[in-house]
Amino acid sequence: MNTPAWSASISRRTWLATLAGSAALPGVTGATPKPDITLRFSHVVAEETPKGLAANRFKVLVEQRSGGRIGVQIFPNAQLYGDHDEMQALQLGAVDLVAPSLSKFGRIGLPEFELFDLPFLFDDLSAVRRITLGPLGKKLLQGLPRQGLVGLGFFDNGFKQMSANRPLLEPANFMNLRMRVQASRVIAAQMRALGARPVTLAFSETRRALAAGVVDGTENPVSNFWTQAMHEVQTDLSLTNHGYLGYAVVTNQRFWQHLQPDDRSLINQALQESLAFANQIADTQNDQALHALRLAGTTRIHNLTKGQRTRLRQAVQPVQQQLASRIGPRWMKDMEQALRQA
Ligand code: LMR
Repeated sequence: MNTPAWSASISRRTWLATLAGSAALPGVTGATPKPDITLRFSHVVAEETPKGLAANRFKVLVEQRSGGRIGVQIFPNAQLYGDHDEMQALQLGAVDLVAPSLSKFGRIGLPEFELFDLPFLFDDLSAVRRITLGPLGKKLLQGLPRQGLVGLGFFDNGFKQMSANRPLLEPANFMNLRMRVQASRVIAAQMRALGARPVTLAFSETRRALAAGVVDGTENPVSNFWTQAMHEVQTDLSLTNHGYLGYAVVTNQRFWQHLQPDDRSLINQALQESLAFANQIADTQNDQALHALRLAGTTRIHNLTKGQRTRLRQAVQPVQQQLASRIGPRWMKDMEQALRQA
């Protein structure tokens, strides 16, 4: 699957239609026999996001390498399950793979994953890698069998930006705004520290809630903002880069153990390659989405001065201490140590 070509003349709808067309798999669909195994991969975002493109890449690799014997069905955009029920659907075996954001593991009893939500924690993606690719990342995934799940790897979307119908450049701009958040106590605390009122909503409900004025603003990397057409309902996007959004791919433990070892290794290999691909394209996807947003011209885009960013950072500083006991002192210590390693 190719990354979409962006151009001044391409509208969002044309672009989506082009992508849908290019998702066909020559040599895999049509003439190939019915697969022996079909993996159902459910996710909540659009196809032309880092996660959507990684899922599509995974499908291509698995179906090609297995000669069509293993099929992958992808359900993007919360078509099948949304934030509230995708983990449960996985635990019950209704789907085989999901890739929730790391912010969504706290509510299934793994609050240590919320460490990724700590505001202004990571200077760049290489700092994120020190955790996800190191012993701490491994240890985080090792907690998943407690929930009947297996964690297969991490990947990026990128850094989050703030949107509302006003610029969000200083803590005072957030005062009393109802900000949609993912189900993460750390993100809720971050919004409170800024003077806003956090409202937890499923991703699939966010655009509608913004349009209806149920919430005033939200945070997300630009690729999610753009592909959900949030620019049609938010006048201002402030490039705060205040936090990280990444994912873990998770499967059902029973399902995983019942696969033939060769199939398991084919699937795992294809997945690891797809996650590496996602990490390669995530930055570009967000840059391209920002470019498209500028061309669409509906939303004012604000860069922060150094001073503004420092004041936001100072306002959310207490969150780290406030939430340390939820994340767990041991996890906090290990995380600080991992980040110190150059
Ligand atoms: C959100 O709920 O805001 C995002 O985590 C959605 C996603 O999976 O990127």
